[in-house]
Amino acid sequence: MTSVDSEKFGNYIKTQEQAWLDIFSTYIPEEKTIKIGNGFGYLSELVRPLTKELSVLDIKTYPLTINKDVVQIYDGLTIPYPDKSFDTAIIVFTLHHIPQSRKYFQEIMRVTKKRIIILEETYDNIFQKLHLYYRDWLINKKAEQSCGLHWKSYFSRKELNRLIKSNKLIEIYRLTKKHKSYFKELAILDIHP
Ligand SMILES: C[S@@+](CC[C@H](N)C(=O)[O-])C[C@H]1O[C@@H](n2cnc3c(N)ncnc32)[C@H](O)[C@@H]1O
Repeated sequence: MTSVDSEKFGNYIKTQEQAWLDIFSTYIPEEKTIKIGNGFGYLSELVRPLTKELSVLDIKTYPLTINKDVVQIYDGLTIPYPDKSFDTAIIVFTLHHIPQSRKYFQEIMRVTKKRIIILEETYDNIFQKLHLYYRDWLINKKAEQSCGLHWKSYFSRKELNRLIKSNKLIEIYRLTKKHKSYFKELAILDIHP
């Protein structure tokens, strides 16, 4: 990518992420927050002023990452913090990059006291899943974001509902947006006190 292309692409991603943040920003309590998955860092840095303390975790940074110095790199499996370290966890378009995403979700539950904000791409049938997987692969390639995709780590809409129910999470807000043939789904979930 030339530097002009990178700038254009960066601005496009930032605009998209700002639009999502406008929807869920009021649900971020001004306390301790962990953001899991950083991408190029735009969203993390837009979230930073909204919360008292922000930790950002990822397995790597990329040539276009704007906040390399604040990203905490870890093994991608065990969140390197004690139980209930954070009031809020935010995970945006990242669960499908994590092997055994359901098991990993228990890690998120372990370190979080109050609220989990998830934004994920979901599907209802195999055709939508194939389309979604292909689009993710293409977009990550264009973005030169070399992070793996895990077929089994995607959630259908039913599976996402099951995850919420089985963990006895309280749904504070839910938004499902049809995107291409599949969906983009935002869930703001409170942990039972
Ligand atoms: C497509 S990006 C989405 C990030 C989103 N745009 C944001 O700013 O929140 C997915 C990110 O998840 C990261 N990632 C992959 N596996 C991870 C893991 N086990 N824990 C945390 N982040 C992970 C990737 O390195 C990449 O930065």
